[in-house]
Amino acid sequence: MRRPLIAANWKMHLGRAEEALALVRRLRPALSALDSVDVAICPPFTVLASLAEVLRNSPIGLGAQTMHWAESGAHTGDVSPAMLAGLCDYAILGHSERRASAGPGASDEAINRKVLAAVEHGLTPIVCVGESAAQREAGETHGFVSRQVAAALQGVDPAAARRIVLAYEPIWAIGSGRAATPAEANRTIGITVRGAVADSLGEGAAELTRILYGGSVDADNITDFMHMPDIDGALVGGASLSPDFADLAKAAAAACDPNR
Ligand code: 13P
Repeated sequence: MRRPLIAANWKMHLGRAEEALALVRRLRPALSALDSVDVAICPPFTVLASLAEVLRNSPIGLGAQTMHWAESGAHTGDVSPAMLAGLCDYAILGHSERRASAGPGASDEAINRKVLAAVEHGLTPIVCVGESAAQREAGETHGFVSRQVAAALQGVDPAAARRIVLAYEPIWAIGSGRAATPAEANRTIGITVRGAVADSLGEGAAELTRILYGGSVDADNITDFMHMPDIDGALVGGASLSPDFADLAKAAAAACDPNR
């Protein structure tokens, strides 16, 4: 049984304390009342500490959008897992926007080191994978995404499967208003992503690993994604930046099959 997760990725938005706090104070009552899904908010680093304060004693999780793997060191601008461990619960790792911009700091090898470091520090990594439009058109989705998953999970203890989240985010669907169809997302998540987790960690672990869909998810399409048997929630960008995110999360909770 996998408990669904609806995670908000605010990206580089709402990074001033007053705007972040205003939105979270509005979302908190509705999000706290949902008992069939986990909910998490991943804001910019600048407001993590303020939101940690407001969300203390609430069931709403908090996450970072990236992190370094090292404990500390000469890494200007980076934030370590040890720094995050006391502050938040999740860390998004390997988002395609960072893979595209962060060079060697977002290589498959670096992402693997970050995954291992996150688990070691009690943080839940949300590991993003997904193909580009060109890869999809060339029929490379399965091979490419499988390799991303295998690389990210190298050396991970299968016993940690419950504490690892993957997010399948096809790059062409991010911010485009053109989500994958639920059936297509379910097929890639089930066959490619969960299949690669099974190859890395074993079938039992793959059954326990939560795998989200991300890419133009909104309050209107979330229900159809949640009805898919292999999709365990969503990583939401644009639709998580307003009070309407509560409607999206409520729709997700209502759509959950309690026997999944
Ligand atoms: P959108 O929901 O804005 O398409 O962004 C998806 C995403 O990248 C979440 O990490």
